[in-house]
Amino acid sequence: MCGIFGYLGNKQASEIIFQGLQRLEYRGYDSAGIAVKNGTGIALEKKKGRIHNLQELSKNLKGTLGIGHTRWATHGEPNDVNAHPHHSTDKKIMIVHNGIIENFSALKEFLNCSCISATDSEVLAHLIQHHYKGNLLEAVRLSLLQVEGTYGLAVMHQHHDEIIIARNGSPLVVGLGKNEYIISSDLAAIAPHTKKYFCLDDKQIGKLTPSGYEVKDLENSAITKELERITWDVKSIEKKGFSHFMLKEIFEQPASLKNCFRGRITNDEIKVTLNLDDAFIKSINRIILVGCGTSWHSALVAEYAMEKTLNIPVEVEYASEFRYRNPILHENDLVVVISQSGETADTLAALKEAKKHCKTIGIINVVGSTIAREAGSGIYIHAGPEIGVASTKAFTGQILGLLLLALYIDEKREKTANLKTIKDALDNLEEHIKAILEKNEDIKKIAEAYYNSTNFLFLGRGSNFPVALEGALKLKEISYIHAEGYPAAEMKHGPIALIDEHMPVVFIANQNGLHDKIISNMEEVYARKGSIIALTTDDRELKKYTKHIITVPETIDLLQPILNSIPLQLLAYHIAVLKNLDPDKPRNLAKSVTVE
Ligand code: M6R
Repeated sequence: MCGIFGYLGNKQASEIIFQGLQRLEYRGYDSAGIAVKNGTGIALEKKKGRIHNLQELSKNLKGTLGIGHTRWATHGEPNDVNAHPHHSTDKKIMIVHNGIIENFSALKEFLNCSCISATDSEVLAHLIQHHYKGNLLEAVRLSLLQVEGTYGLAVMHQHHDEIIIARNGSPLVVGLGKNEYIISSDLAAIAPHTKKYFCLDDKQIGKLTPSGYEVKDLENSAITKELERITWDVKSIEKKGFSHFMLKEIFEQPASLKNCFRGRITNDEIKVTLNLDDAFIKSINRIILVGCGTSWHSALVAEYAMEKTLNIPVEVEYASEFRYRNPILHENDLVVVISQSGETADTLAALKEAKKHCKTIGIINVVGSTIAREAGSGIYIHAGPEIGVASTKAFTGQILGLLLLALYIDEKREKTANLKTIKDALDNLEEHIKAILEKNEDIKKIAEAYYNSTNFLFLGRGSNFPVALEGALKLKEISYIHAEGYPAAEMKHGPIALIDEHMPVVFIANQNGLHDKIISNMEEVYARKGSIIALTTDDRELKKYTKHIITVPETIDLLQPILNSIPLQLLAYHIAVLKNLDPDKPRNLAKSVTVE
């Protein structure tokens, strides 16, 4: 949440920062600002709203050292004053901050200062001014010793050719270019400039100057950073001719899923490396899957597959609830945290809590992210950068990642799964998904028929129930249409009261053991004049109920939820676009939720 970008080198900083902020805009888009050191002081421009509002203004900023920020409001409404950067009273110090300063009221009292914004962040600028005695790094270090909360932080001072950076709970990476440094909240924004980088770890602070950099911990001990290299192609963060990142990412699924299982499954072996010894795996009594939002839905899908494959009880928990519940955990439990970004605050806290009691692993997309590092070991889903706020290719990748985990555990225990059947099905997945994507125009036509609806129900049974939940979440977050997902049989226990001719109901109605039951549920909606959209592997019986049928190829039960969720992603996408909304940046949302 919120994006930090900074530049120190010999090019014009404002242009580079503006472009960097555009790449980080998915992290927050309430307001944006840039500060650049010029010959006389620090010039500042900030503006409420999307980053493009800053384009003209930023041209006024001339200089080769600067910091910028794109905001997702926590404390204080989105407006010009609350936008970052914030400055000290003497205007010599500028800061940009991600995270939350929990003791900001106490700090304000301590400083006896009045802030001009309603943010928790501004107090940091005043605190640094308070500690400043000519050494900016030391002033920031002393300030952070007083801070409770989380921060990704970049600080500049009118009298120093340097940027001070710090991190606790909010990511910050430093790219090392030729005679230049680029700082950013994520790798995607530095990739166009350099492939060489290092990540700050929690409670580390650094100084970047034209002649070099240093990193230390808050206790003042020097730290040597290992340099890492970006291995993915910069083109993967471009739209490549698609009108939105979300659409591009939906269309990437044939490849992203292949990347997830490639080299990891053969006819008789699962090849993943986990920090779990065989004796522990044999002793696992319970698996607890933890995540938020779409990641929580992928866990619900996996619960079915895992219990079926492993015959071990699997529980699925919202990270935000799990972390505060004093969960009862035993040494024979395995906690699996699931996160696309690897930065979600609740998931990270849940992981830290679980680590105190039992073994943990992560199912993560972003390589090197905080949760990936903290988890110790796990399975990267290798979906590639996901920029659209609505998670699509990461969802299907997470289902697959969790399946690989289940198969790996099975291999070390009972070996019940028929890997050849699963491998064959995976090999066909690419063609199956391509066949679904070819129906894009048909799905758009269905969207045209329903985009003015104000409510939607999504119904499914078995592992299609979480697919229904995910379909509803996708629709509501990008189209602002109220949507609910239910197990189809639950409808008659309440939601059926909502059914009338204005209520579209999406049924996920595969030919599986529960098909007849779901047809009965469809009858109930049909009888009450609800409009039915049916997703199925065989449309023969369904034509009676609706002309809006999406057929998907049939695969093994373990993989069918992956295929079923893709048309629902397209349906949500087209409805949002027809409503003239930007599906990549839905209101009030941000891609990585790094605050509670
Ligand atoms: O990065 P994470 O997977 O931890 O994010 C969890 C949720 O914030 C995320 O899935 C959110 O629900 C998406 N916007 C859904 O599309």
